[in-house]
Amino acid sequence: MEKKPYIFITRKLPARAVDSLSKRFEVSMWDSETETVPREFLLKEAVKADALLTMLSDKIDREVLEAGGSLKIVANLAVGYDNIDLKAASERSIAVCNTPEVLTDTTADLAFALLMASARRIVEAAEFVKEGAWKSWSPLLMAGQDIHHKTIGIVGMGKIGEAVAKRAAGFDMDILYHNRTRKPEAEEKIGARYASFNELIERADYIVCLTPLTAETKGIFNEDSFRKMKNTAVFINASRGPVVDEQALYEALVSGEISAAGLDVFDKEPIGANHPLLTLKNVVALPHIGSSSTETRMEMIELCISNIEAVLDGKQPITPVNI
Ligand code: DGY
Repeated sequence: MEKKPYIFITRKLPARAVDSLSKRFEVSMWDSETETVPREFLLKEAVKADALLTMLSDKIDREVLEAGGSLKIVANLAVGYDNIDLKAASERSIAVCNTPEVLTDTTADLAFALLMASARRIVEAAEFVKEGAWKSWSPLLMAGQDIHHKTIGIVGMGKIGEAVAKRAAGFDMDILYHNRTRKPEAEEKIGARYASFNELIERADYIVCLTPLTAETKGIFNEDSFRKMKNTAVFINASRGPVVDEQALYEALVSGEISAAGLDVFDKEPIGANHPLLTLKNVVALPHIGSSSTETRMEMIELCISNIEAVLDGKQPITPVNI
C-alpha cells in the first residue's frame, strides 16, 4: 500500500478541526495548546513531513525547510508570515500559505478595541474598581481622551487597515493613512487621506500600526518618530513587535513624549512579566490576540487545512504568498 502523506501540526488543535485531514492523511500534532514545539522536535518532524501547519511563533527557517526532502507546503496560521524564510521555501518550491481575509474584521475589531481601551483608560479603570480603590464619583476620575472627531493615522493600509478606517469613520474621525501604495478605493469610499509617514505621525491623535514586518518596517517606530508625535498621541500596535523600538517607546511614555500605548504584539513574545513596559499604567498590553475569536480562529484553521489538502492533491494552494 502506498504511504500516506504526512502532516505535522505544530500546536494541539481541536480534534474535530483536523478530522477531515486525519481521514486521508497521516497527521500528528505537537501535544500542547499553550507551549511552542521545541526546536529539536520540530526539526525531526520536518524531516518526515509533506506538509507543516505552523504557528506564527514557530521559526520556519532554512534549516527546517531543508530538513527533509518531501516538504511541499507550510500553512501558517496567521496573515503575517515573517516567521518563515520565504526565499528558502521558494528555492525548494515549497508553497507558503497564510490566512488572509478570514481574520480581517476580527483583527480590526481588536485594534480598535485597543485604541478605545487606551484612550479611555478602560483597563486601568477596571482594575481600580476591582482593587476597591473607588471611593466616590469625581469629575475627572479616570478621565481619558475623546476618540470621536479626532485624527487617526493608520500605518499599513492593507485589508485590516481599511477595516480599521471603516470603524474610525463611524466615530467621525479624520482618517490619515500611510502605505507603500496609494489606496484610491479607501480614499473614495471611506474618506481616508494619504499622508507621508512624518506628516501622519505628527498630525494623528491615534497612530495605529498595522504594517507587516519587513526589512523596511523593522524599527520604524523609534526615538525620532515618538519625538515627532503629539504629547497627547496614543500609539497602537497590532502588527508585529519588531516594528517598534521598545526602549524608545518606554522612554516616550515615561517622559510624556506620548500619552499612552495599546500593544497586542511585542519584540519578544511572550513578553516577560518584568518588562519595563508592563510597569506603566498608560500601557494596555495583550497577548497577541488580534484574530482570536473562536469563529475566526476556526476559519483560519480550516483555510490552512484547505491549503494543505489542495497542495497534497496536486492542486494550486488557495492563499499562497510565494508561488
Ligand atoms: C496574524 O494573523 O498575523 C495576526 O497577528 C494574528 O493575530
